[in-house]
Amino acid sequence: MSLYGVVGYPIKHSMSPQMFEAAFYEYNMDDEYRLFQIAPEELENFIKKDVNDIPIKGLSVTIPHKEKIIPFLDSIDKHAAAIGAVNTVHNVNGKLKGYNTDWIGATRAMEFVGKDCEGKFVVILGAGGAAAAVAYGCVQSGARVAILNRTLERAQALADKLGCQADTLSNIFKYPAHVLIQTTSVGMYPNINASLVDPDYFKKGMIVMDIVYNPIETKLVREAKRAECRIVPGYKMLLYQGEKQFEIWFGKKPRTEKMEEALLTSLNN
Ligand code: ATR
Repeated sequence: MSLYGVVGYPIKHSMSPQMFEAAFYEYNMDDEYRLFQIAPEELENFIKKDVNDIPIKGLSVTIPHKEKIIPFLDSIDKHAAAIGAVNTVHNVNGKLKGYNTDWIGATRAMEFVGKDCEGKFVVILGAGGAAAAVAYGCVQSGARVAILNRTLERAQALADKLGCQADTLSNIFKYPAHVLIQTTSVGMYPNINASLVDPDYFKKGMIVMDIVYNPIETKLVREAKRAECRIVPGYKMLLYQGEKQFEIWFGKKPRTEKMEEALLTSLNN
């Protein structure tokens, strides 16, 4: 039996345990996946000491640790370095390597509507850590990307790093997107009546993803559906970043549809 888990603060609402337990069950694995609630001031000791003492073979990393964890690891891959965030740790013989699978999660989620983002014009709302991974994934897929954020400086900094355009949210009508991806927490439970987008912006056939999955249908998604946009469910990014984590830890693909079933059951409860 080996131990895996998710480290964050707070962590009790994470749906990763259900998702990974479903994946372990399908392969008759006796590994365990636990929640590790670690406060920011405890992170260094947890990563540098506890992970090898316990030992923990693999970690998912979530808010607020994705950036702060980097100096405590032995190495990180080039994608995590470019994004500036780690959401996955693999412990190989006591050496901790960091990866970022959020960008792959976003890219695979977009494939849900048929194709990837190659040649498309993608508008990303927000310029935080989630936006960085999503924007990186879109650029890797060959999309043209504009990052729109409440605070222009932050959009500009991310855009300069990744070779994108930057603007404020209030200029959204200047950027008619093939694909719109919402990466902020606006619209998340309990503030379910908030949306950053004027419904007139949505056009028939536009591909829309809101990475908020609680509620499954945000106000933004409801309004995009009304305008006959094609919707990528936000939970798909969580699913596919987890699928890739499984591949990193175990060197094989999970039964992703079983992970999805478990995730949807948790989301609906
Ligand atoms: P994460 O790592 O989850 O992306 P973050 O780094 O704190 O979190 O980034 C949050 C993002 O949501 C930012 O783009 C933030 O905009 P600012 O840079 O202007 O702060 C955006 N955001 C959060 N609340 C918002 C709100 N009420 N309206 C508009 N944007 C908001």
